[in-house]
Amino acid sequence: MAKKNFPLSDVYRLLEPGPVVMVTTAAKGRPNIMTMSWHTMLDFEPPIVGCVISNRNYSFDILKATRECVFNIPTLELAKKVVACGNTSGRKIDKFKTFHLTPADATCVKAPLIDECYANLECKVVDGKMVAKYNFFILEVLKAWIDPSKKKDPRTIHHRGNGAFMVAGETIKLPSKMK
Ligand SMILES: Cc1cc2nc3c(=O)[nH]c(=O)nc-3n(C[C@H](O)[C@H](O)[C@H](O)COP(=O)(O)O)c2cc1C
Repeated sequence: MAKKNFPLSDVYRLLEPGPVVMVTTAAKGRPNIMTMSWHTMLDFEPPIVGCVISNRNYSFDILKATRECVFNIPTLELAKKVVACGNTSGRKIDKFKTFHLTPADATCVKAPLIDECYANLECKVVDGKMVAKYNFFILEVLKAWIDPSKKKDPRTIHHRGNGAFMVAGETIKLPSKMK
């Protein structure tokens, strides 16, 4: 197979497989939302996840100070709002109000759930050692919520870079040793 050089600056576009999530945080009772695609699973149970949140983002400041957030997983219907939350800053606007999203109380953290998202993961930072160097937070999922009507085949959206998104589609079943 004749392959061509692929620019290193575009490597993220090949490896960014997980669903785009909307991270909610709260500072002094004021909630914020940011869009995020750079996250990864690190352990099964308790679920440990890692994510990169740029120190230029308002969400970085809140997460660093409060050590709590929620990963809200949206499906296709929310795609435009997902991108809007990724193109604006909570330093300037209230994204819940501006984009007509509904905050709901979480049980383990002060950051709100986004009611319209099909799943919500309440998280706390358990390791911040790599924040200074990589903006990489390690979080434990304390509580998870799911909309049972969408559990089987959620049409999550997956970032491919440059404004392109893949929508989750067909599911195939194969014997796999990974859980
Ligand atoms: C599809 C998409 C994916 C994004 N992924 C990330 C990410 O993984 N990490 C990050 O720091 N910013 C990411 N961003 C950018 C932030 O969402 C953006 O900077 C946002 O304005 C931050 O909001 P805030 O200042 O209210 O925290 C992404 C944006 C989009 C549209």
